Amino acid sequence: MKFYIPRDSAAKAVGADAVADALRAEAARRGLDLTLIRNGTRGMIWLEPLVEIEIDGIRHGFGPLGPADVAALLNDPQTHPKALGPIAELDWMKRQTRLTFARCGVIDPLDLADYEAHGGLAGLRRALSMMPDAIVAEVTASGLRGRGGAGFPTGIKWNTVLSAPGPRKYIVCNADEGDSGTFADRMIMEGDPFTLIEGMAIAGLGVGATRGYVYIRSEYPDAIAVMQDALDIARRAGVLGDVLGSGKIFDIEVRVGAGAYVCGEETSLLNSLEGKRGVVRAKPPLPALEGFMGRPTVVNNVISLATVPVIFEKGARHYADFGLGRSRGTMPIQIAGNVRHGGLFETAFGMPLGDLVNDVGGGTASGRPVKAVQVGGPLGAYMPPAKFDTPFGYEEFDGQGGLIGHAGIVVFDDSADMLKMARFAMEFCAIESCGKCTPCRIGAVRGVETIDRIAQGDAGAAALLTDLCDTMRDGSLCALGGFTPFPVMSALTHFPEDFATAKEAAE
Ligand code: NAI
Ligand code: SF4
Repeated sequence: MKFYIPRDSAAKAVGADAVADALRAEAARRGLDLTLIRNGTRGMIWLEPLVEIEIDGIRHGFGPLGPADVAALLNDPQTHPKALGPIAELDWMKRQTRLTFARCGVIDPLDLADYEAHGGLAGLRRALSMMPDAIVAEVTASGLRGRGGAGFPTGIKWNTVLSAPGPRKYIVCNADEGDSGTFADRMIMEGDPFTLIEGMAIAGLGVGATRGYVYIRSEYPDAIAVMQDALDIARRAGVLGDVLGSGKIFDIEVRVGAGAYVCGEETSLLNSLEGKRGVVRAKPPLPALEGFMGRPTVVNNVISLATVPVIFEKGARHYADFGLGRSRGTMPIQIAGNVRHGGLFETAFGMPLGDLVNDVGGGTASGRPVKAVQVGGPLGAYMPPAKFDTPFGYEEFDGQGGLIGHAGIVVFDDSADMLKMARFAMEFCAIESCGKCTPCRIGAVRGVETIDRIAQGDAGAAALLTDLCDTMRDGSLCALGGFTPFPVMSALTHFPEDFATAKEAAE
């Protein structure tokens, strides 16, 4: 019998290791010979630990399971009280378009043969037969945009690096996933690490770089370990080094960050990678022209790079056929917070926000009405239910005073106090500020004080807060100070009653 239990850290956090141990022990007690694969997660986090059993070539799910549920699994799985049926038939899975995450949860993350059997390395082989400018043109034609949050066209970024003069260029993968409610980078690194390695190798071939770095936050020990093991395997198998025996060289190293949110900003990440303090650099020069060690550098998010293999495997046209407007392809949307069905849902751009929250996510876990959702991390706007018909897309959210960022959605019910959420945003900025520019370094501290004045009933403080947010937005050097006004002003604009109530309570 073939069993699958995720090794993903979200599954482990709710007891997947204990379930795996119990399964092994029970099988040994009964003298059963079973195969246990520690796969990545399918992304249905509310069902973790989710055990799968392959029966007649079909994977059946059981979950959420505890160690005490294991014995019954070995008796008659089909009648198990926590049987979910075939995984592929579950509504959550059926409704998705899994391109980037096609293999995540399906394969053994550290089995290169399994990876290849599921389409892995096909994209790299195709890229090896192409000239660098054709590789870059393929990425441009796919319409892929930066999945870290800014949405800059990946092909244009690669073209800048390809065209930049210089004997040495780099690929830097930004795996400093710091947005609240997001976990797509971690999930793919733990569940399908070769996809990222393959994407980085294709990027290297495209722009003429021979070395890459994956900068992973220290809070992701499992992802760091899986990536390091995957790199060793890829090197031994000849995927890295002399890439598939082509005579073209590319290798990758993992570097671990020390835990600063601002190191997810590309220039402070580069400083950190060079061993310097993680302070933001002024742009220009763009990292594409003067990046790591002053050399032309592609800095891309994990998901941008991990999406490249499927673009080369299936063709740019196939990828670009999904989506809406200028948001092409699919987005792995991470649904979190006070929600019944939290997890990762990959779908073509265009699904309305309300469908993601109420239909896919099943509404709040508390059963109370949804009050707001924050989209795009701690710097994203709070969207009220009145905006739930907004289609998920870069321009569509921009038009509503928000951003999709790294596609994290955090749900809040009607017990949330939006004045406290606005205060939290300013406090977060004050704590995480790198200190380089005044609007953010000083502005965030003044912002906390101003919100406290509103809470204490100061009538003029709301106008002052608006003024301060304008200054931070227009005058900050990077997105941390520049985008903090999004959550603050959206809270003030859409939920004025919370600010008025605080004022009344104080009076
Ligand atoms: P940006 O708009 O300044 O730049 C976007 C990217 O395009 C950068 O890599 C920049 O170097 C590049 N670029 C711009 N013009 C170019 C050109 N002509 N040629 C080549 N490359 C060019 O945005 P920034 O500050 O890099 O990112 C802000 C975003 O980061 C926000 O939208 C926010 O949502 C997101 N973010 C994501 C986090 C996460 O955990 N993933 C955490 C915090 C923020
Ligand atoms: Fe540093 Fe904040 Fe200025 Fe960004 S906005 S450079 S984090 S002080």
